[in-house]
Amino acid sequence: MKITIINGPNLNLLGQRETGIYGRESFESYLDKLRRTFSEVEIEYFQSNHEGALIDKIHEVGFESEGIVLNAGALSHTSLALADAVASVPARTIEVHISNVYSRETYRHQSFLSSRCKGLIVGLGLKGYKLAIQSLIWAE
Ligand code: DQA
Repeated sequence: MKITIINGPNLNLLGQRETGIYGRESFESYLDKLRRTFSEVEIEYFQSNHEGALIDKIHEVGFESEGIVLNAGALSHTSLALADAVASVPARTIEVHISNVYSRETYRHQSFLSSRCKGLIVGLGLKGYKLAIQSLIWAE
C-alpha cells in the first residue's frame, strides 16, 4: 500500500515555528517514527510552500497512491484550486491540522478542503498524521 503525506506552506519549519502551537519535533523526525510504525506501508513525503507545486503533486500521486494525508496549512482556508485538485483524483484524502483550528482565529474555521476529503483530523498534534494513516489502512 502506498500513502503520500503532503504538507503545505510553513510546515517545513515544524519544530522551530510557533512551538507553543505546533510542538518541538521536526516533521522529518516524526516521519522516521511513522515509517517504522507502518513498515508495511510505502510512505512518500512531499512538502512545498507553493500552491501550484502542491496541486501538481496531488495530480501526480492521486491516481496511484491509495491515500493522501494532506495538511495544506493556511492554503486550506483560502485555496479553491487545491480543493478542486483533491476532488479531481480518486485517492482517498484525509485532511490533517496539527492545531485545533476551531479554537483559533475565526479565519481558520473555514476549510475549502474538508468537503472534498474523506475525513478530517484536527487538534491532536503530530499524532493526527498517524491516525490518518491508520484510518486509510483500516478503510482498505
Ligand atoms: C495548520 C493550521 C493552519 O491554520 C495554519 O495556517 C498552518 C498549520 C495546522 O496544522 O494546525 O500552517 O494547518
